Amino acid sequence: MKFNIKKTIIVSVYITVGLWIAYTFLQTKETDKIIFSIGAGTKEIRCIKTLIERFEAENPAIKVTLNVLPAPTDQQHHYYLTTLGSKTGDIDVMRIDTIWVAEFASACWLESLDSFINSEERGSFIPIIEKNNVLRNKLYAIPWNANTGILYYRKDLLDTYNLNPPETWEELIDICTKITAHESVFGYLWQGKQYEGLVCNFIEFIGSSKGGIIDDQGRLIVNSVQNKMALDLMHDLIWKYRISPPNTHSELMEESSRHLFQQGKGLFLRNWTYVWELCQEDPSMKNKVGVSQLPRFFDGKPASVYGGWHLAINAYSRNKKQAWQFIEFLTSPKAQKELAMNLSWAPTRHVLYNDPELIQKLPFLPIVGMALKNVRIRPNLPYYQWLSDVLQKYINKVIANQMRSEEALITIHKELEGIRNEFAED
Ligand code: GLC
Repeated sequence: MKFNIKKTIIVSVYITVGLWIAYTFLQTKETDKIIFSIGAGTKEIRCIKTLIERFEAENPAIKVTLNVLPAPTDQQHHYYLTTLGSKTGDIDVMRIDTIWVAEFASACWLESLDSFINSEERGSFIPIIEKNNVLRNKLYAIPWNANTGILYYRKDLLDTYNLNPPETWEELIDICTKITAHESVFGYLWQGKQYEGLVCNFIEFIGSSKGGIIDDQGRLIVNSVQNKMALDLMHDLIWKYRISPPNTHSELMEESSRHLFQQGKGLFLRNWTYVWELCQEDPSMKNKVGVSQLPRFFDGKPASVYGGWHLAINAYSRNKKQAWQFIEFLTSPKAQKELAMNLSWAPTRHVLYNDPELIQKLPFLPIVGMALKNVRIRPNLPYYQWLSDVLQKYINKVIANQMRSEEALITIHKELEGIRNEFAED
């Protein structure tokens, strides 16, 4: 066979150009794929998938893949500690609990978002964006859905007994005692299992009695008369007044308490905003549920904890620009309105709190808007999880009737002080 150098060169050029085109094409595909990691319920995922389809239609160069995690926050937290801890580039956008921003940002797992968002846009979000999502002057997450604790009540039962929703804990106890004497329902359902939800409930109870954990000057104020009153009330709702289920401390989380309420087994329920829509679409509950602010101690104010979910970009993502495009889309007023209409997620843009259609669909929205003005934020610290573990353990012991409130508060104070000193030394 005769070796033709000219032909060989031409063929080689063709092959090289072909390979180069194929490489570039594959590369574009690669960089245009983003992975969105989110822990949520089935209905929420369905709704988010619809949004993703719209995003992909509007941005044909980007494909979004979902990485679905379990809904409970503690389980998601464990997942992120291992995946982000290994510096994976396999997650681009993630929905993170408000309490992880400081921890993840200080571990350098989150991309700073300052270069992506201008101040006008930033100002269109609720103030939580500045209070919770900024660490050392850098913005690390965009609030996507706001959450505040609210009180659900059985309107039909209160009407039957000619009673109004309670404003104080005393009134709540009275109403529960009266109605549960005749109806086979639990009086008050809330989240008491040893997990993050219990800390949220504790912060609301102590907030409503003018208590707190750390004051504005950063001092530990956990061992106080106000906190003792609140912790005693949590205990007494179960053991003295017997209006909360005896398994509150071992079983009750958001979903288990919601199920009881939706099955008609509870008169009052403390929970987040997502419960509203689920009650509306349940024929046995429709029109029977009302919402009000959480009760307070006689001389206190109602207090709700902030429990939102925010969107962040993995610092190791290879597709940060596309990740931001996706965040921009998901947090747009249009997408947030859709999430609010379908899932009763409270929005994080000011403008939506005045949207008449939304207020009609979510009559509790002004209550959330009001609660947000005076909302309690869990300590915004990189080592929050350590503090939370201590709080969960001892509060749970008190409501399980295994430890007295005085002893628990002294122990909590001591252990929190130890953690703070340890981290201060680092
Ligand atoms: C909700 C809140 C979250 C909180 C969690 C506790 O998901 O949005 O902030 O940590 O409940 O269970």
